[in-house]
Amino acid sequence: MEKLVWFNGKVTTLEEASIPAADHAHLYGDGLFEGIRIYHNQVFKLDQHLDRLYYGCKMMGFDMSIPQVGLRAIILDLCARAGVAEGYIRLNVTRGTGLGLDPRAVKTDPNVMVMVSTLSLYPPEFYANGLDAMFSSVRVIPADSLDPRLKCIGRYASNIMAKAEANRAGVGEALLLNHDGFLTEGTGENVFLVKNGTLRTPHPSCGILRGITRDTVIELAKGAGLTVVEENLTPYDVFEADECFCTGTAAEVVGVATINGQPIGEGKPGPVTMRLTQLFKEHTKIGVPFEAHAGARP
Ligand SMILES: Cc1ncc(COP(=O)(O)O)c(C=O)c1O
Repeated sequence: MEKLVWFNGKVTTLEEASIPAADHAHLYGDGLFEGIRIYHNQVFKLDQHLDRLYYGCKMMGFDMSIPQVGLRAIILDLCARAGVAEGYIRLNVTRGTGLGLDPRAVKTDPNVMVMVSTLSLYPPEFYANGLDAMFSSVRVIPADSLDPRLKCIGRYASNIMAKAEANRAGVGEALLLNHDGFLTEGTGENVFLVKNGTLRTPHPSCGILRGITRDTVIELAKGAGLTVVEENLTPYDVFEADECFCTGTAAEVVGVATINGQPIGEGKPGPVTMRLTQLFKEHTKIGVPFEAHAGARP
């Protein structure tokens, strides 16, 4: 496969790609992004990612000149050109180019980038044994400052600080609480607990990105006859859980073995986590093939 970048209509290799120095996300984090997976020559959950991106553009007040169906076709074209069977798409939209905080300083259309590349987040042993995690001292940015449902580039500085804290502690992931002490999410994943066969996960109002993998896992779990409850959860709920796992486009479904050095349940991915991992894997066979991009969404 070739790693390719489409930027405002021009296709280059990843190494040759360049972004304007006064891009508003480069200067201020004033942009949105999506990470999307390619499985089996198909783009997974493409329309769900585009929906989230375009709702975000609306809320941020980005004047997207490319219609959603047009960007969909651009992504599928680039995937076909890159010839990537299994990979990762990074999609960025920023307010545009201009120096100065005031959005009126931005004189251009939004800058749009599609990158087709590869990504592997965790080594295979994390999936087999579960990852060690910790509660971060970083609190999630409150929704009245920057709604976590916006996948805003700027907000990730705080998630990166939480990740750095996890690195320093020698663990694989950091879980963030909100200012009321309720569990929210990992630095790039949503969190689930299993208690007495029921799936428990923070309600979106706790301050989480409403993950597309999260929604998929909820759907798969319900399909498998499990009860799923979205609610306020505290660290106590985590420590008394039988199982804990994280979900995300990059992470997929990964079990959590320990938090703050304490085993969760048996201290390894439990049966519900393994079952959902398997169901998710099977579900990744369904996607948007690269050739079928001319028409409207299915
Ligand atoms: C903070 C955060 N939470 C959750 C997720 C999981 O979302 P999704 O399943 O849509 O990838 C991500 C993914 O990037 C994220 O960055």
